[in-house]
Amino acid sequence: MKLGIPAETRPNETRIAATPETVKKLTAGGHHAVIIQAGAGVGASIPDEHFVAAGATIVASASDVYQQADIVLKVRGPDAQELARMRSGQVLIGLLNPYQKEGIEALAKQGVTAFAMEALPRISRAQSMDVLSSQANIGGYKAVMMAANTYQRLTPMLMTAAGTVKAARAVVMGVGVAGLQAIATAKRLGAVVEATDVRPETKEQVESLGAKFIEVPLTEEEKELAKGQGGYAREMGEDYRKRQAALVAERIKQADIVITTALIPGRPAPVLVTEEMVKTMRPGSVIVDMAVEQGGNCPLSELDKIVVKHDVHIIGIANLPSLVAADASALYARNLLNFLNLMLDGKTGQFKIDRDDEIIAGTLMCMGGEVLRK
Ligand code: NAI
Repeated sequence: MKLGIPAETRPNETRIAATPETVKKLTAGGHHAVIIQAGAGVGASIPDEHFVAAGATIVASASDVYQQADIVLKVRGPDAQELARMRSGQVLIGLLNPYQKEGIEALAKQGVTAFAMEALPRISRAQSMDVLSSQANIGGYKAVMMAANTYQRLTPMLMTAAGTVKAARAVVMGVGVAGLQAIATAKRLGAVVEATDVRPETKEQVESLGAKFIEVPLTEEEKELAKGQGGYAREMGEDYRKRQAALVAERIKQADIVITTALIPGRPAPVLVTEEMVKTMRPGSVIVDMAVEQGGNCPLSELDKIVVKHDVHIIGIANLPSLVAADASALYARNLLNFLNLMLDGKTGQFKIDRDDEIIAGTLMCMGGEVLRK
């Protein structure tokens, strides 16, 4: 099989879907070849020569990749021009946004066999392929680094001859993969950290990182709903939201740094930090809204901008992993390699799509012109 990696085309997308490490492994058995568009690794600090040394061939343009490759590895879903270059039977693996029906239908129309990595089932066998986790982890780290950089006070407590500086107080909202990393990073920087989530099991995780859990008491009915589904949260009712808001408002008033990460798959992000709450924050405080692409956890955040509202800095940069492109690509490329290994036999060179495998079935969006996941 010939695997092709074109350069990413979306604005601010600096990651790449392969690294010299994964190219080496893919080409090791001598059955598969890897072609890479010239300069595709530049944003992730990977020069073409490193890919060549690992066994890849560099081709001049994206159309060379699309013309020659049997399997195309991407970070983001194709834009209209890339889609037009794809041909029937070609395999595409990447972040294809499974919730956006039109995009998947367009891929099906083109005859592409498309795998959306976001749709990976959250089972232990799939953990090494979980791109959402690997990228959210990096995003959570970078969110705190950006907050600390924007915040005009110190993060750790300092006792100096000129007096004591208080530690920053951070609140993390949504304790999934990004939130847990945000807590750990803020703790490492010396902040006093509190965190909250709808899923009750996160309490123990928050406390194990040395942070305080902001607990919204749940009714019996809410306890069921709050368990979520497949590791993901579900939308909570109006009553819960009111109680959560009251509790959160108190904590936010005291906070210097707020990192919001709350998401519900396929739904707009829940509003957790209202304008009224922002008004109560100290001048110079910082909010990083990691849910900005899904509408935001704070209605004042603006996509890909840092804005100052009511004297609070609100960071709405969407693609945080792209700001750590070298490591983000390294993890993403390994995720894809582990996923490919389900179908690609390095010893015999065979490529087989086993639709009885729940990982394959979960991620396969379309094949043979048919949309498979509605
Ligand atoms: P996510 O990115 O979909 O959501 C982030 C967080 O926001 C979640 O923890 C969610 O509960 C929370 N949230 C949603 N609505 C909220 C609200 N109204 N208020 C407060 N918090 C809210 O989730 P992520 O980070 O992708 O994964 C969540 C969990 O899934 C992980 O913590 C982990 O336990 C599990 N997981 C399991 C995997 C596996 O078994 N293979 C792989 C990855 C994650």
